[in-house]
Amino acid sequence: MTATRPSEADPDGEFSVLAQGLRKWYGPGGKPPGAGGAGADGTSGGGGRDSEDGGKGGKGRKSGRTGRFALDGLDLAVPRGTVFGLLGPNGAGKTTAVRILTTLVRPDGGSARVGGHDVRREPRAVRRRIGLTGQHAAVDEILSARQNLEMFGRLFHLGAARARRRADELLEHFALTEAADKQPQGFSGGMRRRLDLAASMILAPEVLFLDEPTTGLDPRGRSEVWESVRSLAAAGTTVLLTTHYLDEADKLSDRIAVIDRGRTIREDTPEGLKRAVGGARIEVRAAAPEDVPAVVRAVARVAADGAEPRTGAEVPLVHAPVRDGVAALTEVAAQLRAEGVTVEDIGVRRPTLDEVFLRLTGAPAEEPGAAPPPDPDADGSTRSPEGAAV
Ligand SMILES: Nc1ncnc2c1ncn2[C@@H]1O[C@H](COP(=O)(O)OP(=O)(O)OP(=O)(O)O)[C@@H](O)[C@H]1O
Ligand SMILES: [Mg+2]
Repeated sequence: MTATRPSEADPDGEFSVLAQGLRKWYGPGGKPPGAGGAGADGTSGGGGRDSEDGGKGGKGRKSGRTGRFALDGLDLAVPRGTVFGLLGPNGAGKTTAVRILTTLVRPDGGSARVGGHDVRREPRAVRRRIGLTGQHAAVDEILSARQNLEMFGRLFHLGAARARRRADELLEHFALTEAADKQPQGFSGGMRRRLDLAASMILAPEVLFLDEPTTGLDPRGRSEVWESVRSLAAAGTTVLLTTHYLDEADKLSDRIAVIDRGRTIREDTPEGLKRAVGGARIEVRAAAPEDVPAVVRAVARVAADGAEPRTGAEVPLVHAPVRDGVAALTEVAAQLRAEGVTVEDIGVRRPTLDEVFLRLTGAPAEEPGAAPPPDPDADGSTRSPEGAAV
């Protein structure tokens, strides 16, 4: 929507967010070891609505006496008009990245441009182009949904009539018209989050930052928020969202950066990430153990690059990597039918982002007990649509 000033790194203004080598130190004195006078952790104040700052230093954070780099050379390039997922486990640096990009915290190293403006040198220009929904809700509990939005409009100097009109538009866009005159304290988690999203959209930002937009929501609430994100993206807003729900990044994002310990360890499309971990596999479960050799022969014919079919821990399962899942499935099914072999199950399976994470970081993505809520997008299965039974 707004013309951006070309930069050397991004002469065509192709990226809404461009960060290079971002570093952020949290520790005593606020300066990284060996740093001179520069790099103190000064919040730039104003502009954002994220109020989580105060609570961070305490509980369980390792920064303490020794200090650490919350970001340690983070690179990000978010193409204009896309949804970009920042995926990483607890403490990976997601919130720190968002706070730097939204000018709430100054980096100790590296550079970042948002909407074509430098977050350090032009924070006001950046703030005019962004919206932020932090990890915690920022709406007032006593005011009604409409009054909340009107209040934010007034805070952004919209004037009474425009603020009212904008509030009505947003209530409609986020399916809150019926609840407009109720207080958020009576809202479901999903409705609250939608109201929060609406509040960060008052000025129709060019870039919207969402820090864990669905944490703590039930499947229905997640689904409602996902819908909102999709419709914002369809209307042209660039969205950068953080999540540690792998399925969420997979479903919503055009591209994903996997971050760990303050660095980008991989950046790709969801499909590309999954391919990087080995692509599709065909899996055939024979009905009877004596049919396994016939299944192995059939699978061998379609296996990618002459890979040997493997039999699973449960003996009747035979699997092998394949190039073209649909073609492999059709061929194996036809072959086995011709030989009169009965199969219990046949399908093509793609790696999940959980597996991607494990492969890239060597560690599970989630701490035990931190499993995401069930997937509201119904199918809930890791099997591809190709995985139909014969
Ligand atoms: N205000 C702060 N003071 C001291 N240390 C901090 C502060 N904020 C973050 N950290 C440190 O930086 C690291 C990265 O934190 P950050 O909040 O960016 O992670 P995150 O990826 O958002 O994690 P989560 O998934 O738990 O929200 C943390 O492990 C913590 O040690
Ligand atoms: Mg966080």
